Amino acid sequence: MKVSIGADHGGFHLKEFLGERLSEAGYEVIDRGSFDPSPVDYPDIAFKVAADVLNGNRGILICGTGIGMCNAASRVEGVIAALCTNEYMGRMARLHNDANVLCLGARVMGDELAWDVTRAFLETGTMNDDKYIRRREKVARGCI
Ligand code: RB5
Repeated sequence: MKVSIGADHGGFHLKEFLGERLSEAGYEVIDRGSFDPSPVDYPDIAFKVAADVLNGNRGILICGTGIGMCNAASRVEGVIAALCTNEYMGRMARLHNDANVLCLGARVMGDELAWDVTRAFLETGTMNDDKYIRRREKVARGCI
């Protein structure tokens, strides 16, 4: 499993920080940009990372709040994106939601907290009790 990471200008500095931490920790990182802090449209980055996730990799998307990235990635069938602001959410996003994309807001959390959330997300497995599977399937169907 590789980790595909992407950010807009709001998340650029945190992407650089997490990319380095991930490499140091032994993860193979796919960097989908952006590659400098000039303004870009977050959906363009979100969809590049989403494509990597559909190929079996884990994704991390960062913008100012994490909201735009989460909205964009969630539009892609097969992507389960989770906006997490603490370690507990990072862990639960895997355990109960089976999320495959972690969304972070660089303007609402510190770098070290973001790293703790990232580790929780990457190091936690999924709970496959019937009730969790049933709920995920309902979300995936998306019908009202
Ligand atoms: C960019 O200014 C900002 O809107 C973006 O990074 C993100 O927070 C959107 O949800």
